Parts: sequence; structure tokens; C-alpha cells
Amino acid sequence: MSFDRSIKIAPSILSADFANFGQEIQAIESQGADWVHIDVMDGHFVPNLTFGPMAVKAFRPHVKTVMDVHLMIAPVDPYIDAYADAGADVLTAHIEAGPHIHRTLQAIRAAGMKAGVALNPGTPAEAVAHLLDLTDLICVMTVNPGFGGQKFIDMTSKIRSLRSMIGDRPVHIEIDGGVDPSTAPLVAEAGADVLVAGSAVFKGGSVNDPDVYGANIRNIRDAANGVWA
Ligand code: DX5
Ligand code: ZN
Repeated sequence: MSFDRSIKIAPSILSADFANFGQEIQAIESQGADWVHIDVMDGHFVPNLTFGPMAVKAFRPHVKTVMDVHLMIAPVDPYIDAYADAGADVLTAHIEAGPHIHRTLQAIRAAGMKAGVALNPGTPAEAVAHLLDLTDLICVMTVNPGFGGQKFIDMTSKIRSLRSMIGDRPVHIEIDGGVDPSTAPLVAEAGADVLVAGSAVFKGGSVNDPDVYGANIRNIRDAANGVWA
């Protein structure tokens, strides 16, 4: 995984057909997805439950790009090795998930993965000030985590603060929640480079009609890059 700040679209398979993950992953990648975003929820840290390390391991052979695993679970540390074994490229933990995020980020890197830290909408940018050299990605939640299809919460001032705190460090800023062609330009202009999108990528398409995924991905990317049709 090389580092750059170009816009990357990371479809969240939370909005895919849950009976058909393998083909859904192949469809979004063939239609231009840069990363594949996998939302792991535990029914405890967030009020919804998705999949665990065995399912993520089964997704791995289908992901040819970057497998970006977003943990919405607490605790995190007992499961880090399981997600390394499952083949995660990026493993992101929430800062709100426990008292020892510093140790968690070190453990994620020690297990051979890129380490991400996610911030809920109520958590300020300053919370990561002492973690910048331990992290490869900061995920700014623009919804309260737990569900796809929610309304975008404007976090542009937080994104700007993070962008300036990061400086020249090779740290991605990822945006998660309510990203579509109308919100993508706001977050890109503020300094984000990885845009997660669930409903806005999968809407209207299917594995039998994957061109729709391609058009949806292109529309988000073009909007983020300031290309107006
Ligand atoms: C929310 C998840 C998101 C979600 C985004 O808890 O972390 O990744 O799938 O979905 P949309 O793009 O529909 O808001
Ligand atoms: Zn997510």
C-alpha cells in the first residue's frame, strides 16, 4: 500500500447484498472502487450487528485492492490478531471504544496492519494530537456509527483542523457517513482523501447491473475532484 493524497473511493459493503458478498466485492472493484470498506459492528459499541473475523477472512480472496476494516466494537484489543489473520490491510478502531487507544494503535501496527483511529461526531480533532505518529489513517465519522443511509453531519471544520495537525505526515483522512456527490466536494476541499460511501455507491445497481455502481463511483469521485458534468 503506497501513500498518496489523491481521492480514493471506498464503497462500504454494508449496503451490498448480504447473501452475495463475493460477487458484490468483485463488482465494485471492476467498477472503479479504490478500497473496500468493511463495517464490523458488535451490537454493543453500536446498536447494530454485522460480521466478525471469520466472515472478513472469507471476503479476503475477493478483495484485490485494499481491505479497509472499520471496527465498531468494544473492546478491540482481544480481536486484533484475528483481523490480522483475516487479512485486513487497514484496521481502524474508535477512540471512544476504550481507555487505551495508544496501546491499541501500537498493537495494530505490531500485527502488521496499517492503524486507523476513528472519531465519532462528538469527539474533537484534538483528541488525536498525541497519536499522529502512531496512526496511518484518521476516520472522521460524519454520521453517528451503526447504520448506513443516514444524513451527513457537517464536520468540515474538524477535517480542516486534522489536515493542518497532520502536516507532512503520511496519514490519510477518511470520511465515513452520508458521502454522496453533494457532500463529497465539501470534505475533499477540507482535506479528506478516502471517501467511504455505502448507499450512494450501491443504490440502483446490482451484480447483474454493475454499471450503475460504476456511474455512482464516478459521480462521487468527479464531484470530489471538482469536475462538474
Ligand atoms: C456507519 C458505517 C458506514 C456506513 C456508511 O456506521 O461506518 O461505513 O456504511 O453508509 P452511508 O454511505 O450509506 O452513509
Ligand atoms: Zn464505516
